[in-house]
Amino acid sequence: SLVVKSSYADELVKTAKTIASPGRGILAMDESNATCGKRLASIGLENTEANRQAYRTLLVTAPGLGQYVSGAILFEETLYQSTVDGAKIVDVLIEQNIVPGIKVDKGLVPLAGSNNESWCQGLDGLASRSAAYYQQGARFAKWRTVVSIPNGPSALAVKEAAWGLARYAAISQDNGLVPIVEPEILLDGEHGIDRTFEVAQKVWAEVFFYLAENNVMFEGILLKPSMVTPGAECKDKATPQQVADYTLKLLHRRIPPAVPGIMFLSGGQSEVEATLNLNAMNQSPNPWHVSFSYARALQNTCLKTWGGRPENVQAAQEALLIRAKANSLAQLGKYTG
Ligand code: 13P
Repeated sequence: SLVVKSSYADELVKTAKTIASPGRGILAMDESNATCGKRLASIGLENTEANRQAYRTLLVTAPGLGQYVSGAILFEETLYQSTVDGAKIVDVLIEQNIVPGIKVDKGLVPLAGSNNESWCQGLDGLASRSAAYYQQGARFAKWRTVVSIPNGPSALAVKEAAWGLARYAAISQDNGLVPIVEPEILLDGEHGIDRTFEVAQKVWAEVFFYLAENNVMFEGILLKPSMVTPGAECKDKATPQQVADYTLKLLHRRIPPAVPGIMFLSGGQSEVEATLNLNAMNQSPNPWHVSFSYARALQNTCLKTWGGRPENVQAAQEALLIRAKANSLAQLGKYTG
């Protein structure tokens, strides 16, 4: 038969629906050790395993986080890590009613033959790694590749990004993990919002072409798109209403309603901007759950408030819960600022 059905099909659909549940979204806390090091450096901390553990413990133990957060994406180190008090981080998440997820890509490297663009590594050994992550408690996965507007994007870079995402998605489903499909269209550049829209249409058309070609079950995936905005260095700024209009138009044209959830990345937007834009997109009913999968837009104030000091843990957790609640309300279209 042409239709490949994963033995995990029913579970994948259920996992995706759980993550895309009303008023909830994803906490992305899967910074690689290098990126986590930059975050820790910003508050004057060394990039040690103990400091990463202390920070991730703070995040996952925030009381009541599961009311607003349905899934947490972890870096491999964290999936196998315990809290500072010795509880398995995976168990703490499950206790909070939060589905554990895992970043499975191996990062970006230069794409030979392109215009200074990149491609995303990680397909080698992915099936066995995915099976091991499932054993360890992960139920969804993330693969982030990027597309740069100022550098093209070249047809080659778009095709490579789309193909890699589709192979990853098929392998994830085969091993019981709901794949988050993330072709991040970087904010960098002076281009206007219409140019972003044009590139996003091209990217999502190719992504869905190859997802279909690889027999990926759309009911068992989640998407992590960039919102359609002007480039970060563009002189024209867009209002939340404009961002919502462009982004929803893109989604309507390119994303089948079989896909249960659209979980946006924040991509360098400020915390409040990311919340206002999400809220604007939820002012009328959508065919998919439209929500968040933010890292920086959930963590920035929290991290700063913590500053690496044990006495600030509670205040930092409160800061995280403020952003999580605001985005939960925005998912319901009820954020008022
Ligand atoms: P930001 O929300 O900080 O863009 O990060 C989300 C993410 O996981 C990027 O892959």
